Amino acid sequence: MSSEEAGQLEGEEVVLAVTGSIAAYKACEVLRRLQDAGAVVRVTMTHNAAEFVSPLTFAALSGHRVISGSFQDPQPERLAHIRWAKRCSAFCVVPATADFLAKMALGIADDFPSSLHLAVEAPVLVAPAMEEKMWAHPAVQRNIETLKSRGVRIVDPGVGHLASGGHGPGRLAEPLDIVASIVEMVGAPSTPSAQGTLAGQQVLVSAGPTREHLDPVRMLSNPSSGKMGFAVAVEAHSRGAKVVLVSGPTSLPDPPGVEVVRVVTVDEMADALVSRAANADALVMAAAPADFRPQRRSPEKIKKAGTDKLTLELVATTDILEQLRQAPGQRLVVGFAAETGDLEVAAQEKMVRKGCDLIVANRVGLPGGGFESDLNEVVILDRLGGRTMVDSSPKPEIAAAIWDAVADFNERASAGSSGPSA
Ligand code: CTP
Repeated sequence: MSSEEAGQLEGEEVVLAVTGSIAAYKACEVLRRLQDAGAVVRVTMTHNAAEFVSPLTFAALSGHRVISGSFQDPQPERLAHIRWAKRCSAFCVVPATADFLAKMALGIADDFPSSLHLAVEAPVLVAPAMEEKMWAHPAVQRNIETLKSRGVRIVDPGVGHLASGGHGPGRLAEPLDIVASIVEMVGAPSTPSAQGTLAGQQVLVSAGPTREHLDPVRMLSNPSSGKMGFAVAVEAHSRGAKVVLVSGPTSLPDPPGVEVVRVVTVDEMADALVSRAANADALVMAAAPADFRPQRRSPEKIKKAGTDKLTLELVATTDILEQLRQAPGQRLVVGFAAETGDLEVAAQEKMVRKGCDLIVANRVGLPGGGFESDLNEVVILDRLGGRTMVDSSPKPEIAAAIWDAVADFNERASAGSSGPSA
C-alpha cells in the first residue's frame, strides 16, 4: 500500500466476489489491503471458491457474514443482492475464473455473486486467474472484450508460475496492484464524482459501421467495431443520462440500461436518429456510416463466371449529421473525425461544416489505434476554441474524457451565455 492509497477508500464499501481458483487465497490479502485503504469489505463467494478457502476465513477477516453460492443458503437474506448492490462503491471479482467471466459477459444470474453483479450500478473490476491456455482461448478473450466494452476494468493476469507447473500469463495480478486499480477506479472522475452529472438528460449516440449491399451476398462496409460509440453510451448511462444507442452491425451485446436500436444501412441509421433527435439533449455521432453506396442493388447474386472486370457505380449516401441539423429541437452535437492528413485542421473544418459543438478527431491508418482497436488516441476540439488531447487510452477512458469535455464546454458556453447544454 503506497502512502497515497492509505485512507483513499475511507467511507467506501467494496464488494469482493471470490470465485473458484487456486488463487482464491490471495483475495485474503486483497481484502486486508482494501481495509488498510479505509474500505468496508463485504465478501461473496461461489460454491467452488468455498472449496479452496473457507467462507469463515473471509468472514473473520472482513468482520461480516459471507454469502456464498446460491440462494439456498441456510439463512437466506431476502433481496440481499439488491441491498449489497445499492450500498457498494465497487464490485470486484478477485480472482475471476473463466466460468465467472462468461457468466458476467452473458448476464447469467444463477447464484448470489452473479445476481449481485447484475444488480450493481457501481464500477466493476475483474482480476482474472487461470491456466495460460484457458486465458488465451478466444472464448475467454471474447468475454473480456465484451466486459471492457461495458466499462468493466480488467486487471490483466501476470506472467509467472502457474498451478499446473507451467509458466506463462494467467497468474492473478499482485494484490497490491489490484488494490491500486480499485482505488483508482473508485476515485476516477468517471465514477462517483462524475456520476449523476448527466441526470435528467436524454442522450442519443450512434455507433458502428453501416452496410450497403451490392447483391444479397456482397456489401460495402468498413472495419468500425462500434466499441467507441458503445463506450460513450455506457459512460453517459453511468453519469445518469437516459441513453438511446443506434448501432450498425457489431458483435457487441446491448449494454445494460441503454436502449439499443440496431440498424444496417445509412438510411436506416438516419431514420432512427432523425426520429429521436427532437427529444435529445445531446447527440454523439460516433458511427462510421458509409459515404457511398452502389447505385443499384442486384436482387440476384452477381455471377462471376465470364466476368473479368466489374465496374460499380456508387452514389453518395445521406450525410446524417447534416440532415440532423434540420431536425426539430435543440441539442448539443458531438461529431467524430477520422483523418489521415492534417488532423486538427481537417477536424476543425469538419466541425464547422457539420454544425458540431465538439469534434473528436483521431488519426486512422496507423497501427494500434482507431478502428477495431481497444485503444485510441484523440484530440477533442470545441467551437469555443477548447482543445483536449487524450493519449493512447482504452475506449472507456476516451468516452469519459469526451463527457468531461462536454461538461467543460457547457460551462464555458453558459459563462458566455451561448450554446445548448447537455
Ligand atoms: N457522418 C455522417 N454521415 C455520413 C458519414 C459520416 O453523419 N454519411 C458523421 C460521422 O459519424 C462523424 C462525422 O460525420 O461523426 C465525420 O465522419 P468522417 O468519416 O470523418 O467524415 P466524412 O463526413 O465522411 O468526410 P471525409 O470522408 O471526406 O473525411
